[in-house]
Amino acid sequence: MKKQPLKAAVIGTGMIAHKAHIPAYQSMADYYTLDAVMDKTMASAQQTADLFGIKSAYDDVQKMFLEVQPDIVSICTPSATHAAFARLALQHGAHVLCEKPLALCYKETKELFDLAAKQNRMIMACQTLRYHPDYLAAHHYAQAGTLGPIYYAEFSAIRRRGIPTWGSFHRKAASGGGCLSDLGVHMLDAAIWIMGCPRFASITGTTAALFGQREEQVHTSLAESGAPAGISTKRRYNPSEFDVEGFAAGSIRFENGALLNFKTAWAVNLPPRFNLTMAGEKAGFSLPEMTLYSVLHQYQADITPRIFHEGPYDHHPFSGHFYLIENAARHLLYQEDLMVKPQETLLVTALIEGFYVAAAKGREVRADEIMNP
Ligand SMILES: NC(=O)c1ccc[n+]([C@@H]2O[C@H](COP(=O)([O-])OP(=O)(O)OC[C@H]3O[C@@H](n4cnc5c(N)ncnc54)[C@H](O)[C@@H]3O)[C@@H](O)[C@H]2O)c1
Repeated sequence: MKKQPLKAAVIGTGMIAHKAHIPAYQSMADYYTLDAVMDKTMASAQQTADLFGIKSAYDDVQKMFLEVQPDIVSICTPSATHAAFARLALQHGAHVLCEKPLALCYKETKELFDLAAKQNRMIMACQTLRYHPDYLAAHHYAQAGTLGPIYYAEFSAIRRRGIPTWGSFHRKAASGGGCLSDLGVHMLDAAIWIMGCPRFASITGTTAALFGQREEQVHTSLAESGAPAGISTKRRYNPSEFDVEGFAAGSIRFENGALLNFKTAWAVNLPPRFNLTMAGEKAGFSLPEMTLYSVLHQYQADITPRIFHEGPYDHHPFSGHFYLIENAARHLLYQEDLMVKPQETLLVTALIEGFYVAAAKGREVRADEIMNP
């Protein structure tokens, strides 16, 4: 058995660090000690350290790695910075939990997984929707063969008005993309996972950015824009800087013939909706409240399973983070299977990259254009 507890550090001390990663580490004293936080501004790092009683605060990440030598780090900075921090962490021998999306393109993601394998370290993307009990049940049914081969899937991850107003989600240079990278990525990951990570053949799609630059169009609650537990410092982004998509819709063909259609939005004149449906040869389902569509003998049957889940973190708005951070410790200490596998994150990244290329070029993009350019 490895050293226990694991020494953890958190890079980036904004919303998701405060509301998910830090409380999760601190609630698992058997597995972790949280020894340091780092942010680009010392004031923010220090404030966080004081608030949560964390030993050390840094604004220099190299110094943090050298002095603290963490076993594991959480990367909670804007998405365009993830890959560089992950690379540095792996080079310093730390395991990595990285906020989604792990990286902005397939090549960068592949390099990170290759480096992790070379260094014998774990790297996992925080795809926390997977811990929703109904999604776990859907995965279970798919794995057990209850659905039969899945030939069609679709999801909607639609906020009517819900552009994150804090941070730098609105800038491509900081975040790589808009609603697909931030919000749709959760559903895309869940769909890929439930479908068994099929090889993708091609992707096409379109984007729109109609509301982000209009001050009057973004009135919403923090909960509806992705911060159900609030944020520490309220501030509204500068609308003139908004240069990412607020709506994305696409279609993915897989080599096994299956098709996945999707739409996702931070802001669109459509009903807000978060659902995932799939059709298999033996049964289909719809989420978020699991209903199975099947046949019992000669009778069509809608089956609503009673799904009980009484985990210790269920009450928390970011409970998925707690389970994922627990899974990382149990993987490192007891070889428990990782929840989010490298090949799934590689596929998700390739699909997001392919989608943006397809939307920019106005045509279908083949998998080999992204994965073997
Ligand atoms: N899994 C989820 O449910 C979920 C939810 C929200 C956000 N996220 C992800 O978490 C990440 C952060 O989001 P957030 O809402 O916490 O944003 P945020 O803006 O609240 O926090 C980001 C923090 O990173 C710091 N930072 C920025 N650049 C840095 C740098 N170069 N070096 C060090 N620190 C730097 C900022 O000062 C800030 O404190 C994003 O990748 C986002 O996609 C995930």
